Amino acid sequence: MIKFINWVPTRPESIDAFFELAPVSFSDIVYDLGSGDGRLLFAALEKGAGRCVGVDVDRECVTDAREKAKEKGMEDKVCFVHGDATETDLSPASVVLCYMYPSASYALRSQLEEELKPGSRVIMETFPVPGWKPNEIREIEGGKLYLYIMPIEKTEDYDDAINHLDFIPYYEYPEEDG
Ligand SMILES: C[S@@+](CC[C@H](N)C(=O)[O-])C[C@H]1O[C@@H](n2cnc3c(N)ncnc32)[C@H](O)[C@@H]1O
Repeated sequence: MIKFINWVPTRPESIDAFFELAPVSFSDIVYDLGSGDGRLLFAALEKGAGRCVGVDVDRECVTDAREKAKEKGMEDKVCFVHGDATETDLSPASVVLCYMYPSASYALRSQLEEELKPGSRVIMETFPVPGWKPNEIREIEGGKLYLYIMPIEKTEDYDDAINHLDFIPYYEYPEEDG
């Protein structure tokens, strides 16, 4: 597994902005790639999403998120998977949230394009997807949210953009069971 970034939680005061940009309803299946303690998905359920899936390489984050889901009585509507976002089938998602460094975009860009259905929405926190033209950008405390609606519109430098990323190094994360 590859860890693109450590756990840095989205600030509580920024969470509502996700669902103002991408309102959710009972028919939505929301994925958070790098779900941390699950806060974005708990908020998605509170805003009316039908089902949520969180994926994280960090086992402690997954354990913490599962415990919080239980405490909130939400465990039948959200599942937290210990795994690598790049090895996850994203095709069921109607909304994808992601707050990881650009090296994650590099790894996920073609997967998102191939697996997400038309009309699915992607929100990237702080780090936009190189080569994708955002449908909307929202300022949040200390950063921005970038909304994309599938199929994405490519920027003129689509092919080059991905090759000119300022790579923030990532590292191999020890393989674990489960
Ligand atoms: C910046 S935190 C964001 C947490 C949460 N989404 C939030 O907004 O509060 C990024 C998370 O991505 C996880 N992560 C890093 N690389 C990953 C990968 N390849 N697959 C899944 N999760 C990953 C980290 O363990 C961390 O919990």
